[in-house]
Amino acid sequence: MLLWENPPRLSGRAKFDGFLATTGKLSHSRYPTSAKKLSRIRRSFKSDSAILPGMSVRLRKKPRVAIVGAGNLAGALAVSLHAAGYGIDLIISRRRAASLQRARRLAREVGASAAKDAGAQIQAEVVWFCVPDAAIAGAARSLLGAADWNGKIALHSSGALTSDELDVLRKQGAAVASVHPLMTFVHGSRPPLDQVPFAIEGDQRAVLAARAMVEDLGGRAFNIHKQQKEAYHAWGMFGSPLFTALLAASEEVAAAAGVSQKAARQRMLPILSQTLSNYARLGAPGSFSGPIARGDVDTVRKHLAVLRGVPAARDVYVALARAALRDLPAKNRTALERILKA
Ligand SMILES: NC(=O)c1ccc[n+]([C@@H]2O[C@H](COP(=O)([O-])OP(=O)(O)OC[C@H]3O[C@@H](n4cnc5c(N)ncnc54)[C@H](OP(=O)(O)O)[C@@H]3O)[C@@H](O)[C@H]2O)c1
Repeated sequence: MLLWENPPRLSGRAKFDGFLATTGKLSHSRYPTSAKKLSRIRRSFKSDSAILPGMSVRLRKKPRVAIVGAGNLAGALAVSLHAAGYGIDLIISRRRAASLQRARRLAREVGASAAKDAGAQIQAEVVWFCVPDAAIAGAARSLLGAADWNGKIALHSSGALTSDELDVLRKQGAAVASVHPLMTFVHGSRPPLDQVPFAIEGDQRAVLAARAMVEDLGGRAFNIHKQQKEAYHAWGMFGSPLFTALLAASEEVAAAAGVSQKAARQRMLPILSQTLSNYARLGAPGSFSGPIARGDVDTVRKHLAVLRGVPAARDVYVALARAALRDLPAKNRTALERILKA
């Protein structure tokens, strides 16, 4: 039986040991805690049930969370964490009035308070930075005096930057990690986080806490090495931002064919969705069709000629056609390579 309840009064790191111990994330093999200490923590989080006296109850304490920023990721994360039973204490904004207003709006949705970074007082055990990559280190610096960082967990969600971005808080005793959801968050859309992969690296205590939170969200945590983050994020770019750029370029070509942007979007959807479903089931080589796969050199030559009228889209076409010749099954490869070089 699982109950939410205030745990015994523990401070700093012990609080987190308690959280991890009761979620079952803490074990001797994965975490350097003595057996004696671990069993003391576990004992302190168990008690008799008030509902059914005598029945042993396993208490599980979720840490409280403060979120820095109120943009696209912050909105989705705050709402999902709230729905997963996490208390969101505080949404922190930078000083501008409009920023505080956005933080207040989000705070209202999740029962939190809002504060500017200058006057913020952070009680939450987890602080999650959801600001642009270039602002993470600065935002961490601006919150140095807002909390006793010793024992806290500080997370950021950049795909390319490592946990070292939060070094300034690590030096104050916080455990830090980068926790990147491989998902797209845009204004007007807050996708659920269940099934979303999260790439995690950082200090062990922060990684364990982040994994527990991701699991509670229904997401899929996986480890990544610091040195792999840049390549990992470049890969992620293909999943949404560059894919969207490709669709935007395709709309320019649709216009040349007399198809409006709106109609292009509607008419593209069935083929797009079938391609994704083929990719999921058959992989890239098994999903590849069209004139390159068939080796229809004349058809590709006609495309290249007509696309001279849409030069930016032609560049995209040529780059992708060359990639296809390199990576995917194709016929008349040599002839196709020749016309794509011209
Ligand atoms: N969006 C995605 O698809 C996505 C996916 C995975 C990971 N991420 C990561 O999530 C993080 C946030 O991205 P986002 O897309 O949510 O950005 P966003 O929508 O632009 O929101 C950024 C938030 O940070 C605040 N902010 C901007 N500059 C700041 C500064 N100098 N100091 C403090 N706060 C500042 C902004 O507040 P005001 O402008 O209102 O002041 C805004 O609330 C980034 O690290 C990004 O890599 C994003």
